[in-house]
Amino acid sequence: MRIKIAQVGEAVLRQRARQLGVDEIRSRETQQLIEWMRETMHDAPGVGLAAPQVGLGLQLAIIEDKPEYLKDMPAAAVKERERKAVPFHVIVNPKLTLQGPSDVEFFEGCLSLAGFTAVVPRVRHVKVECLDHNGKSKVIEASGWYARILQHEIDHLQGTVYIDRMYSRSFMSTENYGRHWKDKAIREVRDGLRLE
Ligand code: CO
Repeated sequence: MRIKIAQVGEAVLRQRARQLGVDEIRSRETQQLIEWMRETMHDAPGVGLAAPQVGLGLQLAIIEDKPEYLKDMPAAAVKERERKAVPFHVIVNPKLTLQGPSDVEFFEGCLSLAGFTAVVPRVRHVKVECLDHNGKSKVIEASGWYARILQHEIDHLQGTVYIDRMYSRSFMSTENYGRHWKDKAIREVRDGLRLE
């Protein structure tokens, strides 16, 4: 089943989500929710989806960066972003540790801000302590684009969206991004839009 994705302006995207207990994670309801979120994310398509985006204030998010998404990008862009395929997985009650270096800058989007994008600085490397889909403890060490996805999704669980972190002068429609900025180096974007 596909769930409607909440757009900015819905309070649920701005609240802090609550933690889940292990029994709750293993419950039929939560397992069903994970499956519905997975279908919703694939359908969108997106590389991450947090429970608040489907209207639920729970500290649960799913991530998957499929090989086919990378195939459509120029190899240089994939390399620059340090983007690699990431298999489907669930993170619950995550604790994020930023491990720097800071300020890796790329355009980023969100399914809750459909049709828009902006340059968002993120740290390159992170550590995440969380529970998996079975409630088992897990430590994730990630860098590059995967680290960005983790920071973005964990922000959602705290009521934060990328517009809180973006260079506001870089905010634009995805249409204009495709038209003017898609193939530009971030340095050219900085100059062209006079960021900061
Ligand atoms: Co998002």
